[in-house]
Amino acid sequence: GRDVISVRDFSKEDIEFVLDVAERIETELNEKGSLDYAKGKILATLFFEPSTRTRLSFESAMHRLGGSVIGFSSATSTSVKKGESLADTVKTVEQYSDVIVLRHPMEGAARLAAEVAEIPVINAGDGSNQHPTQTLLDLYTIKRAFGRIDGLTIGLLGDLKYGRTVHSLAEALAFYDVELYLISPELLRMPRYIVEELRGRGLTVHETTDLEGTIPELDVLYVTRIQRERFPDEQEYLKVKGSYQVNCAVLKRAKETLRIMHPLPRVDEIHPEVDRTEHALYFRQVFSGVPVRMALLGLTLGVLEGV
Ligand code: CP
Repeated sequence: GRDVISVRDFSKEDIEFVLDVAERIETELNEKGSLDYAKGKILATLFFEPSTRTRLSFESAMHRLGGSVIGFSSATSTSVKKGESLADTVKTVEQYSDVIVLRHPMEGAARLAAEVAEIPVINAGDGSNQHPTQTLLDLYTIKRAFGRIDGLTIGLLGDLKYGRTVHSLAEALAFYDVELYLISPELLRMPRYIVEELRGRGLTVHETTDLEGTIPELDVLYVTRIQRERFPDEQEYLKVKGSYQVNCAVLKRAKETLRIMHPLPRVDEIHPEVDRTEHALYFRQVFSGVPVRMALLGLTLGVLEGV
């Protein structure tokens, strides 16, 4: 369909197609500086939760496609504050725009929005559930760094319970021939239904609390922030706060070719000293957000003939 709600709606062919289009757009953008595929089109960004990268890279992507942007980054300045429902907000905003990008704290919010909207809806994160556009830029970044995804050993570290980026990424990685290490505190393990699904799809999945023992095995270490805002109880957060930190001492045990990823924002789980090493790939992920989101906007708008 035209909506981008969950990686569960994507086939491997769909994913590869988006990554190919993103690569062609990146090349064309480098050659021409800016493009005009979305001239006259309007993107609406509806962000009910904070964001730096997702909102600004979608806005940048729309501008670089020649389109324009409306939206809000805090619902407190909108009529949501007066009690307007998400459905009515979406049915209103679609009169003003051609595609909606939505971030919302409620799991399933993007699916609900897509059901009421006539125009395409792109999920920019729904609670702890899914962040599919992040996953596409993560896969794009891995492919560009290694030339492939198949054959890699990948560790997902940190908050695997509440982290939506790792839920989406793990499900997409099940399409590839990878070995997966899930490294987290006991309290923050990946939800059982996802682990069972990954194993059911033939993926080799190891679960451990031991970062130092696992790091020598890895080609990619994908680090996540402990999602403090998702904990129902602050005391539970305090039990796992600061569980892991990737720093140069920890990296002494890693392969030279290990690449560290992080969807960002980070708090203290990657020491800034790692930024200067060859291991750091997280600002490359930030870069990938624009071509990948240009591809997604262009495809959902149906304006990319000739790319
Ligand atoms: N990676 C990511 O979603 O970042 P923001 O929360 O800043 O959008």
